[in-house]
Amino acid sequence: MNHTVLTGDRPTGPLHLGHYFGTLANRVRLQDVHEVFVLVADYQVIIDRDRPGGIQANIDDLLLDYLAVGLDPGKVTIFQHSAIPELNQLLLPFLSLVSVAELNRNPTVKDEIAHSSQTAVSGLMFTYPVHQAADILFCKGTLVPVGKDQLPHVEVTRLVARRFNERYGAVFPVPEAMMGGAPLLNGLDGGKMSKSRGNAISLKASEDETAALIRAARTDSDRHITYEPETRPEVANLLLLAGLCLGRAPQEIAEEIGYGGARRLKELLTEAVNEFLRPIRERRREVDVAEARRILREGNARARERAVDTLEEVRVAMGF
Ligand code: TRP
Repeated sequence: MNHTVLTGDRPTGPLHLGHYFGTLANRVRLQDVHEVFVLVADYQVIIDRDRPGGIQANIDDLLLDYLAVGLDPGKVTIFQHSAIPELNQLLLPFLSLVSVAELNRNPTVKDEIAHSSQTAVSGLMFTYPVHQAADILFCKGTLVPVGKDQLPHVEVTRLVARRFNERYGAVFPVPEAMMGGAPLLNGLDGGKMSKSRGNAISLKASEDETAALIRAARTDSDRHITYEPETRPEVANLLLLAGLCLGRAPQEIAEEIGYGGARRLKELLTEAVNEFLRPIRERRREVDVAEARRILREGNARARERAVDTLEEVRVAMGF
């Protein structure tokens, strides 16, 4: 089956290991087999803040991360919201297809509101999942590689596609979410891994920064290291991360550490992460920003052609 794959990230800071095992690794695999679009979701940045703040620097960072992990601009189309007016215009008809009650019960939106530092919740907070449907459907995406937190948004997209087709005739495929093979990684403090919570290892962090973050990671006082996600979530999470980097089972790593305690676990993890990220960090140093921006401009032009065609089809189907 030939898929059109679409996925993306908010340019709010450098990507971290959670992104890597959650979705980036998948994208790199998929680019050899399918048509892949990768979105720099710049209009999603203003969901929970007053201004996009340093947006160009964050976009540059994201582009370098993409190229560093092995996304190949000869194979994937990298593009951004703000360069594709026709994509954004799909939001309007799509919003007419969902109810306020449906917008209100999105669990990821609820979680983001709970963690937002803003006193007033913006209208975009409730409607951006529908905008995300436009991200996925403008290119008639069929497969969406995402982490677990994005599943409600893919559900919204499926709803929008189905309802549009029912009302106006078959225009859109109903896309499927694709979860990374890796189990959910938490941050180094045991909470959700997130750039803004300071508990994540960036792909571009130096080896020393990586070591310092891991040294400060939360563990427990039992010197006997065991893999028990239910009763020892922090230790289990570190073992899981080591396992992902080493391509080994976390239980096996726990046995090897035995009574070495948190200290031995952290040493082992630091080495595993730095070893794993070495080639990615090296590649990142080799790409320059001007080249990355040129790649984005080319991607924008390609994506825009698709958006123009889809918007035209939508207007005709709707009778405009
Ligand atoms: N909401 C996603 C995130 O915060 C980013 C995103 C925007 C996205 N549009 C998308 C992901 C479309 C998948 C498909 O990470």
